Amino acid sequence: MPDQTAQIVLDTIRQRRTVDLLKLNPDPVPDDVLEAVLTAGTWAPTHGKHQPWRFTVFTGEGRRRLADLFARAYAASSAKDAGSPEAQENQRVRVMKAPVWISLELHVPQPPRFPQWEEEHALAAAAQNILLAATAFGLASKWASGPAMISPLTAQELGAPELRGFIFLGYAAEQPKDSSRAPLAEKVVWVSE
Ligand SMILES: Cc1cc2nc3c(=O)[nH]c(=O)nc-3n(C[C@H](O)[C@H](O)[C@H](O)COP(=O)(O)O)c2cc1C
Repeated sequence: MPDQTAQIVLDTIRQRRTVDLLKLNPDPVPDDVLEAVLTAGTWAPTHGKHQPWRFTVFTGEGRRRLADLFARAYAASSAKDAGSPEAQENQRVRVMKAPVWISLELHVPQPPRFPQWEEEHALAAAAQNILLAATAFGLASKWASGPAMISPLTAQELGAPELRGFIFLGYAAEQPKDSSRAPLAEKVVWVSE
């Protein structure tokens, strides 16, 4: 049986759920919690210690800049309703529904030393650390990759060579829906002799 520390880690991993933006309450996230969550992100494994991640954190009134950026990026995207003023306004409104938005920016060292996928995966590991640390603090979260969130325009305005979406954080107004996974037997082959 896992000891107490292992059990806490396992429970946190199991409790993390992707939560809809509209299920958050407006409470802000304390700065020290955010710093701890971002620090957890930076402790992800990273080949050669390249640390190919950068994060831009939007909170409070700073979110209005992101809201404006998402509206413009959405308008420039290939989404079916990109030209719709209502859809663009919706992008703006949605940003204000979460108290914290964190960009997932990929900065591969130049010239590259390792294959791109290694740097991509390091960023993904950082993202997962952020999601788990947020869960440990009782925060709800989602890794979101909608058109505005991966847009080259959004990346450019953040000064990011590449963007792999955003994580938003906030406190859930209601118990998140549970998720499911395939049984281990479908995903794991054991070789023991
Ligand atoms: C790279 C990546 C991008 C994602 N983008 C979106 C997204 O744009 N919208 C969304 O609703 N969920 C997104 N998700 C979250 C998945 O939908 C979610 O993990 C899945 O539904 C399983 O739910 P769970 O995380 O609660 O187990 C993304 C997840 C990953 C890893």
